[in-house]
Amino acid sequence: MILKNIILENFRNYVQETVELNPKINLFIGENAQGKTNLIEAIYYLATGRSFRNSRELEIINWNKDYLRLQIKFFKKSVNREFFIDFYYDKKGNKQLKINGIKQKKLSNLWGLLQVVKFSPDDLNIIKAGPQERRKYFDLEICQLSPDYYHLNSQFYKILQQRNILLKEIRDKDKKDDLLEIWDEQLVKKGSMIIKKRIDFLKKLVPVAKNTHKEITSQKELLDITYNSVLIDNPETDIEDIEKKYLLKLKEERKQEIIKGVTLTGPHRDDVLFYLNGKNLKIFGSQGQQRTAILALKIAQLKLFSYLNEEHPLLLLDDVMSELDDYRRQYLINLIQNNEIQTFITGTNLDFMKGNFDKRGIYLVENGNIKNLGRI
Ligand SMILES: Nc1ncnc2c1ncn2[C@@H]1O[C@H](COP(=O)(O)OP(=O)(O)OP(=O)(O)O)[C@@H](O)[C@H]1O
Ligand SMILES: [Mg+2]
Repeated sequence: MILKNIILENFRNYVQETVELNPKINLFIGENAQGKTNLIEAIYYLATGRSFRNSRELEIINWNKDYLRLQIKFFKKSVNREFFIDFYYDKKGNKQLKINGIKQKKLSNLWGLLQVVKFSPDDLNIIKAGPQERRKYFDLEICQLSPDYYHLNSQFYKILQQRNILLKEIRDKDKKDDLLEIWDEQLVKKGSMIIKKRIDFLKKLVPVAKNTHKEITSQKELLDITYNSVLIDNPETDIEDIEKKYLLKLKEERKQEIIKGVTLTGPHRDDVLFYLNGKNLKIFGSQGQQRTAILALKIAQLKLFSYLNEEHPLLLLDDVMSELDDYRRQYLINLIQNNEIQTFITGTNLDFMKGNFDKRGIYLVENGNIKNLGRI
């Protein structure tokens, strides 16, 4: 996948900026608070329909303006076609998405079109934060690979919400609990599909992550990543198994669920655990070990996406180069260069880029303006 250009209009601190991009490495250099992360965020937004910052959605619109527009042109090798995305969003909440000039009914039509792998210091939270953060990360990556998964999730969460309302009504308004049966059936069906999809994704991703981890730690430590659910006792379970267990669990927990007014079991409660030499990385890992595991995870994602889609996703590296040691940084740069992966790197200086690379991809970011230094 090759991003040719991006036009940012009123996106965060950008007012009107057009950037022609390099097909290989693009380096965005600038002082703090100039707009480097904002640019990465804009690309990410067009791939996923959401920001990676924990901010209110409207905040992506420039403070002094009442709408934003993002336009992007890219080439997909796998289908040998150029795509043009045009996204408009205003402060009243109106959104409009056009793909190749055609108005789209749903923003979710973005899924699967432009694929990205993003790596920034915040990603350490995938290990450090609670299960919700990990579910969010893995779910989003599965959505990028199969847009159907997004719809499956929306359906599941709607059912879950309805079921929780009913649980509370049974508790507070003496409604009959046999009304739950119909919701249980639907919850089990969609929930089991989600769990199965997650397990299948991990089955593909984990071996690649383990190998990558070995390579970047010179075989010293062994990484493992497992799916953690009360509904799974072995990774080979099939969907019928999960459904059976899930239904049984709902029956067992019904009284408790009515008292609490929430659904206690399902994909919304599951977790993904990271281990290093058999020890839980979240609890026992050092900061450096956690960071290395995340690096291995992101590289694995990059390799897996490339393999499954028969083309490379865009690689977005926000502020991470300066945090890696020489060996890991060089591993990453070699991978990018040997495979010609279009990459977007931000930093406050160029010190981390040694050796040969295309100087035409160097940009200076200053107060919402982007200047290509290589072309001058
Ligand atoms: N909606 C908005 N409208 C205008 N400016 C905004 C908006 N949201 C954020 N900003 C500003 O954008 C500026 C640049 O932010 P950005 O995070 O891209 O900086 P950066 O170049 O990545 O800096 P650092 O090196 O510190 O990571 C900040 O000063 C921030 O206040
Ligand atoms: Mg930044």
